[in-house]
Amino acid sequence: MRLDQRIATSSELSRKDARRAVISGRVSVNGTRCKSASTHVRERDQVVLDDRLLMLPGDLYLMMNKPAGVISATTDSSQPTALDLLPADLARHVHIAGRLDKDTTGLLLLTSDGQWSHQVTSPRRDCAKTYRVTLAEPLPDEACVMLEHGVQLHGEDKPTQPAQVLVHSETTIELTIREGRYHQVKRMLAAVGNHVEALHRLSIGAITLDDTLAPGQYRALTADEISAIREPG
Ligand code: URA
Repeated sequence: MRLDQRIATSSELSRKDARRAVISGRVSVNGTRCKSASTHVRERDQVVLDDRLLMLPGDLYLMMNKPAGVISATTDSSQPTALDLLPADLARHVHIAGRLDKDTTGLLLLTSDGQWSHQVTSPRRDCAKTYRVTLAEPLPDEACVMLEHGVQLHGEDKPTQPAQVLVHSETTIELTIREGRYHQVKRMLAAVGNHVEALHRLSIGAITLDDTLAPGQYRALTADEISAIREPG
């Protein structure tokens, strides 16, 4: 859609006033000032008018590259949370769909749509989550096979469901799981006698972390990414 149209859709400005705002230099797209009202913007582009991030009407769907050191809670007075990395008027409307540990980095989904986040987190949806796991020790073949078949976690009744392991190097693997048990990846590796040194979430279902996002940055999800979670399977 054209930039002036996008501004009119997501602010109180008329199309004519939106055009004037652009020409007078009040608007930036993805951090760069833009003075052409006919510029084509995509849904995921961040349009800022006078320091105000303009959101399209309707529910909000974001991905963030979560940095280490922030917790995945809505509010916490003592520790920084992922929501503190968003502008306040955005943070007010969204919650986290699928938490990560404080030291885990990578793909975090945030939304205002409770039904959609339920699709991400519901055990009945079996949404696949892929992690890059850096290990303390090389992973023997037998341990890989055990992870793939399912391992018994300390203090739990049932073994984990089958997982996929892709070996990148002696101490780096990609692990795909379809459950979301407490500290699951770290406990799975502990169950095979190893230790997770670093954990980074690469994808959830068909949504892959945008590699142009630096730690702490976020962007709106595209319509395709939003509907990929809605579609069954
Ligand atoms: N598994 C973990 O152990 N930690 C995370 O943050 C995510 C999955």
